[in-house]
Amino acid sequence: MSRLDPHSHFDDLQPRTERWCLRFLVDFDRRVLGGEATLVFAAPAEGTLDLDTKGLTIFRAWVQAGDVDVPFELGPDDPILGRRLRLTLPAKTGAVTLAYETSPEAIGLQWLEPAQTEGGHKPFLFSQCQAIHARTLVPCQDSAYARVAYEAEVVVPEGFTAVMSAGPAGDEPGAIPGTRLFRFTMPQPIPSYLLALAVGDLESRDLSPRARVWAEPATIGKAAWEFAGVEEMIVRAEGLFGPYDWDRYDMLVLPPSFPYGGMENPRMTFLTPTLLAGDRSLVDVVAHELAHSWTGNLVTNATAEHFWLNEGFTVWAERKILKALHGSEAAAFGWSIGQNALDESLERFKDTPELTVLRTHLEGIDPDDAFSSIPYEKGARLVALLEATAGEEAFGEFLQAYMKRFRFTSITTEQWSAFVEERFPGLLAKIGADAWLHEPGMPANAPVFRSETLEALEALAKAFPATRPEAAVMAAWSPTELLVYLQNLPRTLAFADCAWLDENLQLTGRGNFELLVEWLTIAAGSAYEPVFPRVREVLTRVGRMKYLRPLYSALGQHDATRALARDIFAQASKGYHGLSRRVVQGVLDKFPA
Ligand code: BES
Ligand code: ZN
Repeated sequence: MSRLDPHSHFDDLQPRTERWCLRFLVDFDRRVLGGEATLVFAAPAEGTLDLDTKGLTIFRAWVQAGDVDVPFELGPDDPILGRRLRLTLPAKTGAVTLAYETSPEAIGLQWLEPAQTEGGHKPFLFSQCQAIHARTLVPCQDSAYARVAYEAEVVVPEGFTAVMSAGPAGDEPGAIPGTRLFRFTMPQPIPSYLLALAVGDLESRDLSPRARVWAEPATIGKAAWEFAGVEEMIVRAEGLFGPYDWDRYDMLVLPPSFPYGGMENPRMTFLTPTLLAGDRSLVDVVAHELAHSWTGNLVTNATAEHFWLNEGFTVWAERKILKALHGSEAAAFGWSIGQNALDESLERFKDTPELTVLRTHLEGIDPDDAFSSIPYEKGARLVALLEATAGEEAFGEFLQAYMKRFRFTSITTEQWSAFVEERFPGLLAKIGADAWLHEPGMPANAPVFRSETLEALEALAKAFPATRPEAAVMAAWSPTELLVYLQNLPRTLAFADCAWLDENLQLTGRGNFELLVEWLTIAAGSAYEPVFPRVREVLTRVGRMKYLRPLYSALGQHDATRALARDIFAQASKGYHGLSRRVVQGVLDKFPA
């Protein structure tokens, strides 16, 4: 047994799947996908093949050519890994087909009631497979290390649209009356965590010849306006990393329970509707997901233990794109907001410092539990340090060479280090890269990003409430400046100070979720009662974990707000994605009794 990935039954020495042919029948009533998956092997296969499954019911496995049944056996159920599915393939097997269905509880899927959508009339389905949830949709070698191309047919009820992380290949009436069949093809090999599917009442708008946004009809206009600048971002990113290799760049705006800000599903980035601030101030998330088209999707972390290779490079890239578009001050604000997130994660993991290294060891640990801003922000700072030490131009050339060398492959931190060493002999030692990669916390040589405006804002916030900013000063702040101000305010304030802030900055009514949630976190932590209805509204509507964690944590600070938190959770949790529910439950479990 040769296993590189502690989260997969994938065995390096066993047959390699090269391509999937997937068929999904979307059953909203039963909340299951009926599935047929054909795994096509890179070379004729024989003998034992271990696949990952979680919650799947396997009906039959067979070789279509010759219609030969393939014996299979499911192993014990592991709470993190799920069940190993062991097939015994006859000699010269080119492909094996499995008929199966998913569980209504599949963590990789969320089935929404019509009331949880913007339109309110039709149900909705979306997937979220990173890091190890593809196995709840498809029996597969569910490791980022095992790349596959895929084709898919998705049958949905009439009046629904299906989108996938793949190119559209037409649609037609389904064989079953009252259904429609959508076809997709993803010709480039991708890691399994980039498999993605969404089904709902969807409409699209073109933003450029190669970019389009999808959303519910009620949201599409707003979405098209918010993301109108995407083509410019693609052009900037191409300047940094080389040509965009995935043909189209489309985006899908999901209903508000989507647990992340964005997910870089290839050809179809998934986005939270909380980005629709109406002022284009939150499009850094689009820059981030777009940048993954290179860092993450083209060059991929081999396993979740090397996640920093995806996220650290992508955060760094996102800020390069922002700098190119809006100047170095905008980038400095990005680094400052990131520092805030980094500090919060270091604090949260102070009792598990082994999760603050970049190259992690996650045997027995659920990747969702290891998730934090550390691979993002510590990782991005390592990349920035390398760039500063090597020089911007040399580093730019390095990046292009890195992309060329490893495109469409999945690599480890060790392979990455070896490549850096080859290109810049001695550089890793010079910057103390071992401490960055393998030791907890932040090394002393971490780069700091400052700007005068940033410093002045931080000082002003720290002086509150003794010093209150003048009306004209506050009126001139951009949303990002206001966010930095709020992030640097004391975490608990007196009632009168909360009232003053809200009155002068009109915070409770904001539609910009970064600002709104930052404010509500301060107000909730200050037990400032006038915001409680708004806190309830946000926590029952939105499932983005980035917002749930700080808000529920802030509510944990006082008796009265703890009761409120438990009450809101009881009301809201059935609408949360399983991942969000788990995160909030973890926060509530830590409340003092
Ligand atoms: N790939 C991540 C989201 C993710 C990570 C999902 C791990 C599941 C497991 C995505 O690219 C991401 O980082 N999203 C951020 C965006 C932000 C850093 C700009 C988010 O969701 O907030
Ligand atoms: Zn990311």
